[in-house]
Amino acid sequence: MSDKIGLIGCGAMGSALAKGMIKNMGITADSIYVYDLNVHRKKDLAAEIDAVAADNLVDLVPYCRHIFIAVKPQDIEGLLYSMKEMTRPDQIVASIAAGITIHYIESCLPAGVRVIRLMPNTPCLLGEGTIAISTGDNVNDEERKEVEQLLQPLGLTVRLPEYLMDAATGLSGTGPAYVFLFIETMIDAGVAVGIRRDVASEMVIQNVIGSALMLRDNVKHPAELRNSVTSPAGTSAAALQVLEENSFRSCLQKAVIQATRRAEELRRG
Ligand SMILES: NC(=O)c1ccc[n+]([C@@H]2O[C@H](COP(=O)([O-])OP(=O)(O)OC[C@H]3O[C@@H](n4cnc5c(N)ncnc54)[C@H](OP(=O)(O)O)[C@@H]3O)[C@@H](O)[C@H]2O)c1
Repeated sequence: MSDKIGLIGCGAMGSALAKGMIKNMGITADSIYVYDLNVHRKKDLAAEIDAVAADNLVDLVPYCRHIFIAVKPQDIEGLLYSMKEMTRPDQIVASIAAGITIHYIESCLPAGVRVIRLMPNTPCLLGEGTIAISTGDNVNDEERKEVEQLLQPLGLTVRLPEYLMDAATGLSGTGPAYVFLFIETMIDAGVAVGIRRDVASEMVIQNVIGSALMLRDNVKHPAELRNSVTSPAGTSAAALQVLEENSFRSCLQKAVIQATRRAEELRRG
């Protein structure tokens, strides 16, 4: 079996996947085949990473062991229909389409095909993403590890049972939006207390990066680090009191729960 990798859909997330995967040791650009209905998008991506631009699905699907699908959820039905006759059960089909279940993809392809569902987020573009991964019943541990290995340069992979994929969408797929809003608000607050916007922006972004790295590199709980910077009757204590009074935690939790519900609604059509 060929170890070629196919990517169908060369938009924002598809491109991030392909660009990340070529950073993997042992994967050469000419082993990645890319295809998109939008010829310019396909050719641009192929030229940028030196991959092979497939003329059509027949030039990609039969030759690839791993096929990554990165089209919008509304486009997947037609795509799977077109792929069915050329897909074999020993191929691994990994989809990032939000809300499209493993069962649905399996039902559109030949029996036995290995199906994996992924929920990435946009920091994958920088190799700092989070990718939730769920596997269908036909996928064995070895095959799951192969895909995790391919995705390794894009960031952190987290295995989740499929019933938690909507939650992964609410927490992590949508997560960058919460962080961007937090950063934007902090910058505005910096301006409100007299700091120039460009300087406030630099300070806030570095603050978020630094704080996140303290959590990633330490094994400490966020509450422990927060307590360590909160002196009695100090500035942090005063600020945290305002956040508690204004339901900061409850508001954020409700946002994640609402995003999860919305992902469920979209999945149910
Ligand atoms: N963006 C995110 O933050 C994010 C996060 C997690 C998951 N996702 C998932 O990632 C997937 C892709 O999102 P995106 O933002 O990258 O979308 P996108 O930028 O619209 O890219 C999708 C590409 O697929 C092409 N396409 C559509 N049908 C096709 C077909 N049958 N064969 C080949 N190519 C086809 C589209 O061409 P046309 O434009 O000509 O239709 C478009 O170029 C979605 O399913 C989304 O749910 C996205």
